[in-house]
Amino acid sequence: MSLLKEESKNTINLLEINSVTKAFGGLKAVNNCSLNVKKGSITGLIGPNGAGKTTLFNVITGQLPADKGQILIDGENIEKLPPHITHSKGIVRTFQIPRELKRMTVLENLMVVKTNQSGENLFTTWLNPWKVKQEEKANLKKAEETLEFLRLSHLADEYAGNLSTGQKKLLEIGRTLMSDPKIILLDEPAAGVNPTLMNNIVERIEEISKEFKITFLIIEHNMEIIMNLCDPIIVMSDGSKLAEGNAKSIRNNKDVIDAYLGK
Ligand SMILES: Nc1ncnc2c1ncn2[C@@H]1O[C@H](COP(=O)(O)OP(=O)(O)O)[C@@H](O)[C@H]1O
Ligand SMILES: [Mg+2]
Repeated sequence: MSLLKEESKNTINLLEINSVTKAFGGLKAVNNCSLNVKKGSITGLIGPNGAGKTTLFNVITGQLPADKGQILIDGENIEKLPPHITHSKGIVRTFQIPRELKRMTVLENLMVVKTNQSGENLFTTWLNPWKVKQEEKANLKKAEETLEFLRLSHLADEYAGNLSTGQKKLLEIGRTLMSDPKIILLDEPAAGVNPTLMNNIVERIEEISKEFKITFLIIEHNMEIIMNLCDPIIVMSDGSKLAEGNAKSIRNNKDVIDAYLGK
């Protein structure tokens, strides 16, 4: 009975942020912030510039240590863990400014994503070269399938540095898919992207959510995208959650309007 209860509790929130604070000197960029991301949702995270959205992402992934508070993924505390461990627990992200490996090809950018492959361990390479070969093959196949899914196959051998902003953002989404994530954190996936690629990005996010059952938390300033794609939408202001609801309730929320107008 208690086991069942535990399980149903965990299926509701994939990610829980409880009273998290992160200060830079005297500035509390994230200030006693609490919010939850439901498993399977495409949750939007909006708020004025400087509200603390990107800092919150950095704290979730362990790129920055939280000063206080708790962060849980699937009920497990992760607030003290470094980025490579949160990554291995299924928390992956993209960056406001894409961080592709410019001098590697698009395909290579996908293949170098850290998974838990035996090939990375020198010891296994000696002990079982056959297994390593098989994994390399599987990795290549996965990278090729990911490019196909993203409609980027024609660019497989192009240097990633030569891609347009939108293509780089798609490639970053591809890199997140290579490591079998539970939750993908997207930091402004549509910023600087032309309308055609923007549609592709939105469609791929919807498809990843539906087909692969991956949860999303998306920071985005393009309101049309947020309103169409995300439910719920969480509004951050001055480092903490100001409001949460569907597109309609957020659009009509007086506190939200005031926050954006800088009251
Ligand atoms: N590494 C840092 N050092 C000092 N201040 C920072 C740093 N990162 C962010 N800030 C400050 O923290 C606040 C929140 O920034 P940020 O999280 O980037 O907001 P948002 O992504 O919502 O625009 C801003 O005032 C910003 O200047
Ligand atoms: Mg930001």
